[in-house]
Amino acid sequence: MTVRIQVVDDLPAAATAAFLSAVRGAIARQGRCTVALSGGSTPRALYDRLRPDDLDWSKVVFFFGDERAVPLADSLSNFRMVWETLLRQVSATIHPLTHAASYEALLRAELGAGGAFDVMLLGMGDDGHTASLFPGSPVLSERQRWVVDAPGVAPAPRRFTVTAPVIQRAREVLVLVGGAGKAKVLQEVIEGPRGKYPSQLLHEAAGSVFWLVDTAASACLAAR
Ligand code: 6PG
Repeated sequence: MTVRIQVVDDLPAAATAAFLSAVRGAIARQGRCTVALSGGSTPRALYDRLRPDDLDWSKVVFFFGDERAVPLADSLSNFRMVWETLLRQVSATIHPLTHAASYEALLRAELGAGGAFDVMLLGMGDDGHTASLFPGSPVLSERQRWVVDAPGVAPAPRRFTVTAPVIQRAREVLVLVGGAGKAKVLQEVIEGPRGKYPSQLLHEAAGSVFWLVDTAASACLAAR
């Protein structure tokens, strides 16, 4: 496992560079790249910057790391957000997440027994959640299933999410954290005792974890 934390002034620009580098690396090594997408406003700023000529998108297979249990066309849907910002412009393969058990079967078929995404995008909420693994959630301790129904918070109290082991198996995780509202929690997640916040499951990741943090969100970190 390798962990990097980088504080940047322009988070969308840094996230775009890191994402493109990770995807290009996977395509160069193995001819295709599986990517788990995240919802949230910070990842959205990355999707907004990606362009059709950035990559050979036909070699990219998109999945969702979590989704709100709403119709895909609903304004709360992560799929709809990523579709409108990125997916409708590119010729990638896209697998929307609409049902936990069938998505797990799809992931088992597409990712193989190792079950590792090449690149996984994640955000972190003000409460330390990541994907749709919220503090106190009963699915935080799930170790067998890959995708589960999960309680969320308003405005989307029902979600689907990949489980902690799936996140921990990903080869390259990019965690995008922006805004002053996350500074205190980020400090605890990175520097505090383990086991308090769902995002701390990333400390047990097998692959590489790259925290990209904007200046405001980094304000409470001792090591900046
Ligand atoms: C979602 C997410 C969620 C998100 C964080 C951070 O569906 O809401 O996938 O985990 O990434 O809440 O969101 P922001 O970047 O908007 O703070």
